[in-house]
Amino acid sequence: MPMGFYDDWVKAADDEAKHFNLICDCLETMGSYYGALPAHDGMWRAASDTANDLQGRLAIVPMVLEARGLDVTPGMIDVFEKAGETAAVESLKTIYSEEVSHVAYGAKWFNFVCGRDNSDPKEVFHALVKRYFKGGLKPPFNEEKRVDAGLPPDFYWPLAEELPPYVR
Ligand SMILES: [Fe+2]
Repeated sequence: MPMGFYDDWVKAADDEAKHFNLICDCLETMGSYYGALPAHDGMWRAASDTANDLQGRLAIVPMVLEARGLDVTPGMIDVFEKAGETAAVESLKTIYSEEVSHVAYGAKWFNFVCGRDNSDPKEVFHALVKRYFKGGLKPPFNEEKRVDAGLPPDFYWPLAEELPPYVR
């Protein structure tokens, strides 16, 4: 892979380390700590499942899981705003804005590999998500931020889980 690929992911790792510290600080301010409550390990499982598959890793980690972060973070910001937790709100806003670039790195390098292989990125993405990700993707999607990150609707909408008719 070109040097820019490594530069992007080192930048993402640096951001993630900062985000982890921001969250740790919030938890400590509230008298808790990271690890006090159980949490899912979906990101780590995805990393392990795609350990030998670069395109699978790019499809699932940044383009599905981190994109999901873009969908849910505005709602989390609202919750903390209503609770008057200004420090948490500021931290989440920082994380939210920086996560867009992580999804963008994923989409950029996924498209790069598909271009090199002469394959259709959308078709490859659909096949890899079906292979590595259990269940459908969960709407509502943050279409605006997903577009900013280079993730077009025809990548994720066809993979959306079945919704009851009243949500459509
Ligand atoms: Fe990220």
